[in-house]
Amino acid sequence: MAENPKIRTPIVCVMGHVDHGKTSLLDRIRGSSVVSSEAGAITQHIGATIVPIEAIRTMSGSMGKVPINIPGLLFIDTPGHHAFTTLRARGGALADMAILVVDINQGFQPQTIEALQILRNCKTPFVIAATKIDRIHGWRVNENESFISSFNKQNERVKGDVENKTYEIVGKLSELDFSADRFDRVADFQRNLAIVPLSAHTGEGIPDLLLIMIGLAQRYMSDELKLLVEGPGAGTVLEVKEERGLGTTLDVILYDGTLAVGDEIAVATQVDVVVTKVRSLLKPRPMQEILTEDRFERVKSVAAAAGIKVTAPNLEGVIAGSPFFVIRGNRDEVTEKIKREMTEIHVNLAEEGIVIKADTIGALEALCKELESKEIGVMRAEVGPVSRLDLVETETIKNPAFRVLLSFNTPLLPDAAEIIKDPLYTQVKVFEGKVIYQLIDQYVEWRDEQKR
Ligand code: GTP
Ligand code: MG
Repeated sequence: MAENPKIRTPIVCVMGHVDHGKTSLLDRIRGSSVVSSEAGAITQHIGATIVPIEAIRTMSGSMGKVPINIPGLLFIDTPGHHAFTTLRARGGALADMAILVVDINQGFQPQTIEALQILRNCKTPFVIAATKIDRIHGWRVNENESFISSFNKQNERVKGDVENKTYEIVGKLSELDFSADRFDRVADFQRNLAIVPLSAHTGEGIPDLLLIMIGLAQRYMSDELKLLVEGPGAGTVLEVKEERGLGTTLDVILYDGTLAVGDEIAVATQVDVVVTKVRSLLKPRPMQEILTEDRFERVKSVAAAAGIKVTAPNLEGVIAGSPFFVIRGNRDEVTEKIKREMTEIHVNLAEEGIVIKADTIGALEALCKELESKEIGVMRAEVGPVSRLDLVETETIKNPAFRVLLSFNTPLLPDAAEIIKDPLYTQVKVFEGKVIYQLIDQYVEWRDEQKR
């Protein structure tokens, strides 16, 4: 079947709690060994992998009859404690779809819940991968088989165990107002979340997961406009890296359009917007991890979606998370757009409310949306560490219940840390945290206590 070369590769974010198996799952899918090469097997960086449709076809086995017109899937792995909020596009989340990984033996953990809330707020379609089924006591391995086929070969006790653990996940999801079921019992994927029990170590259940991802992509991404590759390239900078012999390079996720050698591009630095010309484009080979691959393929151009390394002059000082645009036409329009994206925070500020700070714009927005849903007003929202000036400004809030600063994933500068120790100096209550809803819970608990 001829595939339409213009259809964009859907971007899939893999999310979930630390150590629940995100990297291992992708690793199994791409058949390399990123996990074993990572320091302490903890993901230090965000990586991207394209899995071409042929590879998915082979792995899932039974897709022969399914008409497929997407070129493959671009998977993005995120470290456990960093939600995909750092990756943004068009003022929203970058991902078209997501896989939420949950260790079937451990069930829901703080970051699982955080990921769910982010996905709900961003309206991103997703499936649940219930991983590590091979750890269920007495599980008999049937390497690479579909879940159902392997499940049917297990004894009654093991089957019962899998059912119970799956229902625990269903129950947790229902507490959070998601209706879910094991994927083979889901009739309407639009209304119900699918849970796919699987193992990254044995490959069981992975064919089912891939089939469902392709199904989701075909069904919900078939909004052709969204998927068509059009015009000048647009992307997000994942990482800024020094590479020997290449100088400063950018690892970019291109989500829209095309990018070619010689193109004029614009990206943000700490202080300004840089306009420069692409010297070379280095593409990770299919099935390889952009961050561990050292032998890149030089290409003349790429089309979305892709993870691509860009070399160009004057890239020093570019910020990870910056928007990335190809200029074809008005240069000022593009640089203005970048400036706006870097400063404009898509949050509704209230007349009366608390102050929040976070490490990235995406995280700030995620925190804001969650506060909004709890009807807690935010008066100021900023990216960056907490400074003494932030405390001084928060101090001026009259209502003591709002004289509060929530700091998400961002440090207190020494001068700020010093003065919050002294109640004579500042009345501001500071809460720090790395999980959004826990941070909010801390605040709400404190606030309600004050009322008594
Ligand atoms: P962070 O990136 O640190 O958030 O972790 P992660 O979610 O990427 O988890 P990772 O893939 O690094 O896996 C954590 C541990 O669980 C490793 O020791 C893996 O070998 C193990 N593991 C992952 N998947 C499976 C699985 O399906 N079965 C078994 N038995 N172990 C698994
Ligand atoms: Mg990982």
